[in-house]
Amino acid sequence: MAGEGKIACLFIFFLCLRPSSEAQTWVKSGYFYAGSEIPVSDIDSSLFSHLICAFASIDSSTHPLSFNSSFEQIFSTFTSTVKRKNPSITTLLSVWAGGEDPSAFASMLGDSSSRRSFIESTIEKARLYAFSGIDLFGVWLGRSVNITNLSVLLGEWRDGVDAESRKSGKPRLLLVMDVYCQPIVDSLSFPLDSIQRYLDWVHLIAYDNHLPTREKFALPHAALFDPASHNNTDFCITWLLTRGFPARKLVLGLPYHGYAWQLMDSSGDAIGHPAVGPAVTADGSFGYKAIKSFIRDFGYGASSVYNDTYVVNFYSKGLVWINFDDVEAIRAKVTYAKEKGLLGYSVFQINNDQNWVLSRTAQESGEDQQKRRWVWLVMLISIATVVLLILGLICYLQRRKLKSEGILGVIEGFSRQFKTMVCKGESLESSAPKLQKFGYATLRAATDNFSSENKIGEGGFGPVYKGKLPKGRDIAIKRLSKTSNQGLEEFENEVMLAVSLQHVNLVRLLGFCTDREEKMLVYEYMPNKSLDFYLFDPIRKYLLDWMQRVHIIEGITQGLLYLHEYSNFTIIHRDLKASNVLLDDEMNPRISDFGMARIFRKDDTEASTSRIVGTYGYVPPEYVRKGIYSMKYDVYSFGVLLLQIISGRRTSCYHGLSENLNLLEYAYEQWKDDKCMEFIDPSLDDYSSSCKLLRCMQVALLCVQEKAGDRPSMLEVSSMLKNESSAVNSPKKPAFSINKDEDKDEDDKCLLKEAIHSVNDASISELFPR
Ligand SMILES: *[C@@H]1O[C@H](CO)[C@@H](O)[C@H](O)[C@H]1NC(C)=O
Ligand SMILES: *[C@@H]1O[C@H](CO)[C@@H](O)[C@H](O)[C@H]1NC(C)=O
Ligand SMILES: *[C@@H]1O[C@H](CO)[C@@H](O)[C@H](O)[C@H]1NC(C)=O
Ligand SMILES: *[C@@H]1O[C@H](CO)[C@@H](O)[C@H](O)[C@H]1NC(C)=O
Ligand SMILES: *[C@@H]1O[C@H](CO)[C@@H](O)[C@H](O)[C@H]1NC(C)=O
Repeated sequence: MAGEGKIACLFIFFLCLRPSSEAQTWVKSGYFYAGSEIPVSDIDSSLFSHLICAFASIDSSTHPLSFNSSFEQIFSTFTSTVKRKNPSITTLLSVWAGGEDPSAFASMLGDSSSRRSFIESTIEKARLYAFSGIDLFGVWLGRSVNITNLSVLLGEWRDGVDAESRKSGKPRLLLVMDVYCQPIVDSLSFPLDSIQRYLDWVHLIAYDNHLPTREKFALPHAALFDPASHNNTDFCITWLLTRGFPARKLVLGLPYHGYAWQLMDSSGDAIGHPAVGPAVTADGSFGYKAIKSFIRDFGYGASSVYNDTYVVNFYSKGLVWINFDDVEAIRAKVTYAKEKGLLGYSVFQINNDQNWVLSRTAQESGEDQQKRRWVWLVMLISIATVVLLILGLICYLQRRKLKSEGILGVIEGFSRQFKTMVCKGESLESSAPKLQKFGYATLRAATDNFSSENKIGEGGFGPVYKGKLPKGRDIAIKRLSKTSNQGLEEFENEVMLAVSLQHVNLVRLLGFCTDREEKMLVYEYMPNKSLDFYLFDPIRKYLLDWMQRVHIIEGITQGLLYLHEYSNFTIIHRDLKASNVLLDDEMNPRISDFGMARIFRKDDTEASTSRIVGTYGYVPPEYVRKGIYSMKYDVYSFGVLLLQIISGRRTSCYHGLSENLNLLEYAYEQWKDDKCMEFIDPSLDDYSSSCKLLRCMQVALLCVQEKAGDRPSMLEVSSMLKNESSAVNSPKKPAFSINKDEDKDEDDKCLLKEAIHSVNDASISELFPR
């Protein structure tokens, strides 16, 4: 082959890769929140030109600039750590001005000696920790921040930075600030002049325009365009440009988060549909990563819809409507910024990205189209060459192998590989009772060719059929849908786990089938369906009297105890809910669906994951917020289930007089006001045992407390339920309550503040990582 051609290609390739001077001034910046769980060393800094470490805060009493306890450590090594992957990166230190509570900031502004010491300390800290600039975040104009005084600060800051550079001989520190779109448009007094004169550029906060905590219509929070209102990014940027603000000093803010709204009714999911308030989280806010997992786990293969009229992605299911920026929206916005001649983009915040998908999209969209086409062409040619070579090699080797082993040998090899894939843990496999392997034909015959009459349900990753084996035995068959590979992991997980678990309160796996690309699990058949079939049906609920429900509660408790304490491993189920509690012919409860379950070493107490699974309503707050799971996850779900068994109510509805309380809050309010009988399912006429009912309710409330540490273990739950005479603690407010108690310890005060902010404050979204 022509070696010269290749060399020419490579030459062109490197020529194209060399950044032009124009590309170098294109700002690709991102915020990193130091309070996030992600280590700085995990940041892919090659995707950015600037990284901003957030936040240091202003402390008017002691030192002008202060760091949260663990933050200073992170700030001090931030620059050197991110430079390892990208030596040419520029880092900035971000100072939090306080959002809507700028008291410390405002009082510093009003006093010239405070301003001076503030300016000095920002420069000193930036130099000390090798930052190349300072960013001022969370200045919310229009309240207590006096604009004249802000202009004075910016002027003095610029002078201070210039003077320091002359004195030290180092390049001048960058000075940038974040401004919210909306107040600029609303306020005529915005200090455009001084911002333009003294700052290197501004980050435009072009998001959080519509929040579910404030408004009653589901609207996109970060729309680029909006035919119906001025609350959109394009309007704001056009406004600025027509007033002479230079495009080269504007950096477009991109959100890596979205908001979930609870719609009034499910009849419409269009933009502008009437809404009740936030869904899923307390204020509806949601990081990109969490949104993607939410959609994956609850949408079963559904994806978000991109609307290019607004430039927003949204996803809706039932009453939940989520709007956010996915790759399409990010791509459109970066292209827009390029076209308008802006300086670049700034993402908030990189911690919420998923595998750097959004950051990579943003980076690629910003590159020159022409240049990209060349790079692609050259790369395609090189890749094609390499692929051809490899293919040739494989063909050659394969032919030799076929000759020596025969085609059967090769197939055998593949199926061996698959088996080890399915049954990863060999120890598990060998110690477990033998699973039966079913052929596809057998199962097809058993279900009458998977006829719709035999379909008894739709699981997380495919339909479930009832079947009858030739010998007359009834079975349930879970068939993984072929169309998605989603679920393969859960399938393997379930086979691995189910095989080793034996308990009367767990559904037993009989075998599996992996014929012809089919993946199926075969279980004992449960003739009485699942708990939700009775609990939430106005007629069938009468089939479950209190004695029966107590029996079911005890069974679930035993099943969970076995998983947590008595089996060979510690197993966290992570998807306990009414529809996963099946009932056998004697109405004994059997926990099913181990697709989400995780094995724990006995000595571990908690772990965390970036993949959020589970079912809305049964998932504890620490998992929603931080992906942390422990045995207390199941305890929480158990508490929710217990409240449902007692009340016959669903978690998905609102309760109470004004229908504004979720099930947990409602239970807690009734319990506190001694009105438990109103909470309890009216079909339970079993007043003789009401004492036990109330005790169950109290235990349930203990299980759903906000802090995982406050919740009892399953051992304690079991003993509280059994031992009716022992004292039981008073539960604290349950998780996901909007209104917190008044008498609080320190920690709860913070939560209280968070809850209040979530209601009134747009800027809180900047402080708390999503
Ligand atoms: C530091 O932590 C406190 C609570 O621990 C919080 O109120 C404050 O906003 C945090 N400051 C920053 C800059 O994150
Ligand atoms: C602005 O600064 C002046 C002094 O420079 C001070 O008297 C005034 O109170 C400040 N205004 C505000 C709103 O802080
Ligand atoms: C801001 O402070 C200045 C004094 O520094 C004062 O003249 C001006 O009226 C103040 N503006 C507002 C809106 O309070
Ligand atoms: C932007 O939205 C807010 C909240 O809905 C509203 O109060 C304000 O009037 C809107 N502003 C414009 C210019 O449409
Ligand atoms: C975007 O949403 C608006 C309002 O719901 C709708 O009128 C429009 O047709 C949508 N556009 C696209 C491209 O889906």
